[in-house]
Amino acid sequence: MKNLDAFERVSLGLFPTPVQRLDNISRILNTQVYIKRDDLTGLGLGGNKVRKLEYLMARARREGAEVVFTTGGAQSNHAMLTAAAACRLGMRAILILKKRGVTECVGNQLLEKQMGVQVIFMDTDDYGEIYAEMDRMGTALGVPYYKIPCGGSNALGVLGYVRCAQEIRDQGMRFDHVICAEGSGGTLAGLALGARLFLPGTKVHGMMVDSDAFEEITLNLMQEAAGMLDAKLPLSGADFHLLDMCGPGYAVPSEEGKAALSLMAEKEGIFLDPVYTGKAFAGLVRMAREGVFGKDERVLFVHTGGAGGLFAVR
Ligand SMILES: Cc1ncc(COP(=O)(O)O)c(C=O)c1O
Repeated sequence: MKNLDAFERVSLGLFPTPVQRLDNISRILNTQVYIKRDDLTGLGLGGNKVRKLEYLMARARREGAEVVFTTGGAQSNHAMLTAAAACRLGMRAILILKKRGVTECVGNQLLEKQMGVQVIFMDTDDYGEIYAEMDRMGTALGVPYYKIPCGGSNALGVLGYVRCAQEIRDQGMRFDHVICAEGSGGTLAGLALGARLFLPGTKVHGMMVDSDAFEEITLNLMQEAAGMLDAKLPLSGADFHLLDMCGPGYAVPSEEGKAALSLMAEKEGIFLDPVYTGKAFAGLVRMAREGVFGKDERVLFVHTGGAGGLFAVR
C-alpha cells in the first residue's frame, strides 16, 4: 500500500486537531464521549473541508490552475473554505452555488464577501448544469482552471479523512466508535476506510443529514480511495453504519438537532451548527439513549465545523 505522504498536499490547516473528553456530556449520557476538534482546523472558521482541500488544492496548483471553481448550496461551508484556501494560495475562486437556502449576505455569504470572491447563484438542482457552466466560464476566461466537486468529495478529497484516522491512531487513543455527519460522503468514506487501515476494532457511524443514496456513495468513494492507495482489502457496507438524522429536510433544522446543539453549548461551551453537526450529534445522543454504547465504551464525535451556518438560520 502507498503511504499517504505519496500524494501531494499543501499545508492549509493546523494538525493534529485536539481530542477532548466531554466530561459533562459523558456523565449525562452514561458513556465516555470525546470530541475531535476538526472545527479548529485553522483556515476560515475551521471545519472538515480543510483536510480535503489540502489534497485538492495541491492538485489544482500542480495542474497550473489560476482559477478554482466549486459548488454547493448558498450557505455551503465547503465553498467558503475553498475560497479561503484559494485566497491563501493566491488563486482566484469562483463559486457557482445553487440558489437554494439562505442567499442573503449572512453566514458564509458574508464571509465570502469579506474575501472578495465571485459568487454566482444558479437556479437549478442539477449539479451537471453547474459543472457545465464552470467549463463554459473557464473556457471564456481563457486561463487554466480546476473544478472541485461539491463537498470536495472525490477520492482525492477522501484521502484527507483517511489521514484523519491515521492522526487519531497517532494521538495514541483508542475508540470503540467514531461518529461524523454525512453530507456529500467524503468524510465518512475517509474515516471508514481509515478505520479499516489504522483503527482496527473501531466502528464508524455516519449521520445522514440529506437523503441521497449514501450507502452506495460512501462505498464507491471508499473503493476509489483504496484504489488510489493501492490498499488491497475487501470493503463493504459493513465497514460503516448509517443513521438517518435528516429530519424535515437538508438544511432545515430538526427539533432533535436543536436540542443536541443546545446540550453541547450549555454543558460544554462548544458550538455545533444546525445543518450538519447538530444533527450528527443528535444521532450520537439518540444512540446513547437507546443503550447502544456501553458505560465504559469510548465514543469519538468528529466535530466537522460549520460555524458559518449558525449565523444564517432563517
Ligand atoms: C460542517 C460540515 N460537517 C459535515 C459535512 C459533511 O461532510 P461530507 O460532505 O464529507 O459528507 C459538511 C459538508 O457537507 C459540513 O460543511
